Amino acid sequence: MADLDGTQGDKEFYTDTPQEPPGFFLKGSHQYDWGLKNRLSRVFNPETGRTIMLAFDHGYFMGPTTGLERVDQTILPLEPHCDCLMLTRGIQRSIIPASTGKAIALRASGGTSMVSPMDEWEGELDGKPARLARPGYEPLSFEDTAVDIEEAIRLNASVLAVQVFIGGQHERRSLQNLTRTIDAANRYGIAVMGVVAVGRSMERTPKYFRMATRIMAELGAHIIKCYHTEEEFETITSCCPVPIVIAGGKKRPERDALQMAYDACRQGASGVDMGRNIFQSAAPVPMMKAVRGVVHGGMSPDEAFDLYRSLQDEA
Ligand code: 5RP
Repeated sequence: MADLDGTQGDKEFYTDTPQEPPGFFLKGSHQYDWGLKNRLSRVFNPETGRTIMLAFDHGYFMGPTTGLERVDQTILPLEPHCDCLMLTRGIQRSIIPASTGKAIALRASGGTSMVSPMDEWEGELDGKPARLARPGYEPLSFEDTAVDIEEAIRLNASVLAVQVFIGGQHERRSLQNLTRTIDAANRYGIAVMGVVAVGRSMERTPKYFRMATRIMAELGAHIIKCYHTEEEFETITSCCPVPIVIAGGKKRPERDALQMAYDACRQGASGVDMGRNIFQSAAPVPMMKAVRGVVHGGMSPDEAFDLYRSLQDEA
């Protein structure tokens, strides 16, 4: 194994030495063409080098999850305070005003649901008839691409988001979804965000995330979305040559979510792609503004939480 034989000692991640992007503000992005750089500059704030993506694409496999029953009521008030909207084409066309100035990160993989049959599926895999009926079958990882490149252009997407299941049952298929989307998106200067999925057979360890994020970057993803880890997160950002944004994950107390966003940015993340910790908050607009304070405003978690509470009191 290349990583085991003949190595000279511990790994060195150079976590104190940021990777330079000469002549451009965004990690790993300085050699792209003008159009792609311009789209990335709409997603990431060139002043801070960071982004606040508001993720509300969950319905693509969950349906109307809590906080997203009525996107017009719950998400539109948040729109002015983020940099980028991460969503599905269905919600974009039906609810988001075309006059929005926000960048679009369009969900571009899908095809499975939370209630996909767990124990049987019959069809074709790699050109051969196949039946999947074994314990531990992971239906969610059996995604396909869900948007073609012309549709992405019609919707003026800056980013296409593809779920990748490293170590999952359908790892290869999800990686092909990623690389095919990258090939198409590169023809038009659109960015692709590889989204690290976590499933039953996938660990949430720094080692796993280092591998998953790096594999996607090596395959050409322009942005990576990953979870924050309590330990060694700076090694994950350090050895990934393109920007990482963190998912919020399940709803947690507001102060904890602000701490996580703060820690992630300090440890090299280029911002957040957060959903439930904002739209499921007791006060979503104050929470959105507090996250903004951390990501773009240089606020500490305590300062941002004070802001959250004062805005909540005013509301
Ligand atoms: C679904 C996604 C979601 O956009 C993502 O999980 C972000 O939302 P949250 O902050 O609620 O975790 O990629 O697969």
